[in-house]
Amino acid sequence: MLLSSGISNVKRPLLELFSRYSREHKWWILFGVLTSLVAPIIGILPPYILQTAIDSVLLDNRPFALFGLRSGLFPVGQADQLYLLGGILAIIGIVSAILSWSAGWVWGRFSQEVQHKVRVDTYTKAQKLGMPFYESEQTGQIMTVLNNDVRSLNNVLGKFIGQVVSTSATIVGVTVLLFILHWEFALISLFFVPAIVLVTRYFIRRLKVEHAAVKQRIGVVNSKIENNLSGMHVIKSYTRETQERDRVASVSRGLYDKFWNVIDLRIRFQPSLNVLNTAGFTLMLVLGGIWIVEGPPLLFSEPLSEGTLVAFLVYQQRLIQPIIQTGQLIDQYYGARASAVRVLSLHDHEAREHNSENAITVDHFDGHIEFDDMSFGYRDNTVLTDVNFTANAGDFIGIVGSTGSGKSTLLKLLLRFYEPDKGEIRVDDHNIKDIKINDLRKRIGIVHQDTHLFSGTIGENLGYGAAEATEEDIKRAARLANAHDFIMEFPDGYETNVGEGGAKLSGGQRQRIALARSLVSDPDILLLDEATSHVDNETERQIQDSLETVVQDRTTFAVAHRLSTIRNADQIVVLDDGEIIEQGTHQDLINQNGKYAQLWSIHIGDNQRAEPVQQ
Ligand SMILES: Nc1ncnc2c1ncn2[C@@H]1O[C@H](COP(=O)(O)OP(=O)(O)O)[C@@H](O)[C@H]1O
Ligand SMILES: [Mg+2]
Repeated sequence: MLLSSGISNVKRPLLELFSRYSREHKWWILFGVLTSLVAPIIGILPPYILQTAIDSVLLDNRPFALFGLRSGLFPVGQADQLYLLGGILAIIGIVSAILSWSAGWVWGRFSQEVQHKVRVDTYTKAQKLGMPFYESEQTGQIMTVLNNDVRSLNNVLGKFIGQVVSTSATIVGVTVLLFILHWEFALISLFFVPAIVLVTRYFIRRLKVEHAAVKQRIGVVNSKIENNLSGMHVIKSYTRETQERDRVASVSRGLYDKFWNVIDLRIRFQPSLNVLNTAGFTLMLVLGGIWIVEGPPLLFSEPLSEGTLVAFLVYQQRLIQPIIQTGQLIDQYYGARASAVRVLSLHDHEAREHNSENAITVDHFDGHIEFDDMSFGYRDNTVLTDVNFTANAGDFIGIVGSTGSGKSTLLKLLLRFYEPDKGEIRVDDHNIKDIKINDLRKRIGIVHQDTHLFSGTIGENLGYGAAEATEEDIKRAARLANAHDFIMEFPDGYETNVGEGGAKLSGGQRQRIALARSLVSDPDILLLDEATSHVDNETERQIQDSLETVVQDRTTFAVAHRLSTIRNADQIVVLDDGEIIEQGTHQDLINQNGKYAQLWSIHIGDNQRAEPVQQ
């Protein structure tokens, strides 16, 4: 898998991404850290107030003081003291509400900003990867990076710092406060903390393993369903509905089982914590009670007040949540770290398309094209061997050869979808390696063998490659490709929606739209890869007639589906297993009486059988 092998040399992937994306938000981060720090500290004060209320007001065991301070300004009456404490609680409540709202706002915003930037950046980087990457990597995997990984990063990059800060502030704050309140009782009451930490760690580790299994199963179910939906016509044609339902049921059952493991762990986790928690609570209540009634036990010397015991019982409850959360944070951290590695490996993948250092800018080609001793293979599998030929500016070149002989590959090499292994390709005497990729592709029009239209209207698809094209340009191109008439027959004309991938059009209609799309930008070089293979003979002839003028003032390569389309070519190149075996005009090749002559006689025969009237 290329994605996972892309990059492993970044030591701290999360930190790396964080520093890339947080720079312009440093004030937000500072503000977020401050609010996340102050909010929990203020939030832990109410039980302390409670202690004062019980000991100094209700039981009146100790002189009234606030946070250890005594003052003549404090009221003397019990009711007034309660009003004061109530007022302080109200203020604390309001301030914490404001702080936690601010922290929520700033971290929420920050995480969305980061998520948005990472997503767009990752997509932008993905777009720069060359075709070999897309052919070896499953699109599903790239989708996973763009969806899941970006989202899981968002959790950590965005909310993590805030959560770490507020969780640690709560744990440290509560612990410190407990020691200030009564260090001896604090020693005893914090005894249960390690137990909670251990139980939490156990469950979170197990959950991590099970979560990974669930994730993997979700992937399996999704790709199965996706595959089936896109191949629905095949399923229906072969009446495989029952079998496919069973297969979906079986992968879904697999997901069910894995999910159950997670649920099983979760429903055991909370009760286990509750048991520990209740045990701790009971122990503290009994021990504290005895401490109050009978005085300090064992080696302890400090008496314990009722208010302090109540404060301790409340604080104990407050510690549990942050401890569990710490476990979850650690878990999230590892998940996000794995995501960060995948995102970075896509960002820094070496399969990027590069312009060479001194790449030249081009805004027009004459269209003189040379293949100079060029060889190419996909990985180790050689497809084209020692290809040599020259097309003069304005030539019409026909390319013929059996399926798999390398015709489509030859055209894609001209667009630099791949780089030759040996030799070079020159356009107007420039090695295409030295021309800016975008300039090269802008001046070349191509109709791929497998036409792809984007969901949207016919008009949008036609204008796809030429933002500045006018309605007139589009209609002219549509007429040349013999598409205007059928487009106008749709009730919505050029506004007709083509459906997913062009599914609402026939194969021949799709091809004519793709042909028109390639003509809209008036390219200097035109590459047609079996561009009319799905249209009928009559329509093809009409297209040929209208294209006659178009191909006259540009270099055109046409891979022929029917030999009659290239009969008048300036040059016909016959490929066989990646090698040029014959080359010349139609008449030359007929005279040679080789492979082409043989193909031609088959073609003639076919046509005589197919169209006896017209021949
Ligand atoms: N993306 C690819 N990765 C690996 N092999 C490929 C790829 N595309 C085509 N091939 C192989 O290269 C050979 C030539 O393919 P192609 O140029 O499409 O032939 P043609 O267009 O003449 O039918 C075939 O054997 C095909 O299997
Ligand atoms: Mg092909």
